[in-house]
Amino acid sequence: MTADTLGPAPTPAGAGIFSTPGAAAGMPTAPASDPRHFLGLEGLSRSTLLSLLADAAREREWLALGEPNRGDLAGLTAVLAFIEDSTRTRTSFEIAAKRLGANTVVFSSAHSSLNKGETLLDTVRLFEAMGASLVVVRHPASGAPAWLARELATMGVVNAGDGMHEHPTQGLLDLLTLQDAWRGRFEGRRLAIVGDIAHSRVARSSIAGLATLGARVTVCGPGTLMPAAVEELGCDAAETLEDALAGADAVMALRLQRERMESGLLPALGEYARDWGLTPERVSLLAPDGVVLHPGPVNRGLELSHEVADGPRSRILAQVANGVAVRCAVLRRCADAIRRPHGFTAAVAAR
Ligand code: CP
Repeated sequence: MTADTLGPAPTPAGAGIFSTPGAAAGMPTAPASDPRHFLGLEGLSRSTLLSLLADAAREREWLALGEPNRGDLAGLTAVLAFIEDSTRTRTSFEIAAKRLGANTVVFSSAHSSLNKGETLLDTVRLFEAMGASLVVVRHPASGAPAWLARELATMGVVNAGDGMHEHPTQGLLDLLTLQDAWRGRFEGRRLAIVGDIAHSRVARSSIAGLATLGARVTVCGPGTLMPAAVEELGCDAAETLEDALAGADAVMALRLQRERMESGLLPALGEYARDWGLTPERVSLLAPDGVVLHPGPVNRGLELSHEVADGPRSRILAQVANGVAVRCAVLRRCADAIRRPHGFTAAVAAR
């Protein structure tokens, strides 16, 4: 069986999204070229990606100094709207926004009027009316941030992970981690991605970014968790984990979403760990300087063993640290565009 899951995720009941009939039926066209928004890595040019990585590396150096907060985003209010659970992404966006001097508001669907039937668009328009300039959105429906970006008059929209579509700041922090591990060169390098490719927004963003920068990606995983025509994503597919790992310059294990077992796409967790789990023996198949990535949260003993998670090749905590720097770079890019004429000025005038 093959999972044909390249389309948008179904709209979850009670999430209060897509107020206009039919809006959820197809993936909205993302205004990828509008720098007020950061919606996906697909469609971003090589020069834009490299410039964001260079900005993030500079932000990382500054963050390491432990100096007082800056004022780059002073006067700007950013709402972090998390309609799905998160630890890393939400906290690192909040830290990044505060370090750059923004006012931040964390909004989650629990205890909100979304549960009384208010739509996501109406909710975000409230934030706009209150003077917020930027909304960072995590949402279980693919395409929700791009749709908001089209519908909102002035606010910038940052995608913090949407359904099975993209997780672009995760993709960017993965690129930064690989750029360090690969000593600045993407060309000729290869990343193996193992696990639930079909439902993974992390895999989609990584594949898009690495393809643009000249690196190859090999994916592997249970047949039920591989999308049909997986090569159309811009990667190769391997039959076995060992084939994917042999000589690769890095491996990324994806989080196994346990709900897939309930939906019959996985037989048993033990079988998954046996066939697709990363062990020290399997990791030794990588190139000598090959590294291990995982976007988190990690299911230890399932996607990878304790020895691999905490071993010398693991870059999992480096990924987390890079997340703050990358989010500083992305927030600054959006804020700069929002403050230009027709952005911040027009928004203020309209109030
Ligand atoms: N990698 C990631 O998105 O983690 P969180 O769900 O904790 O934000």
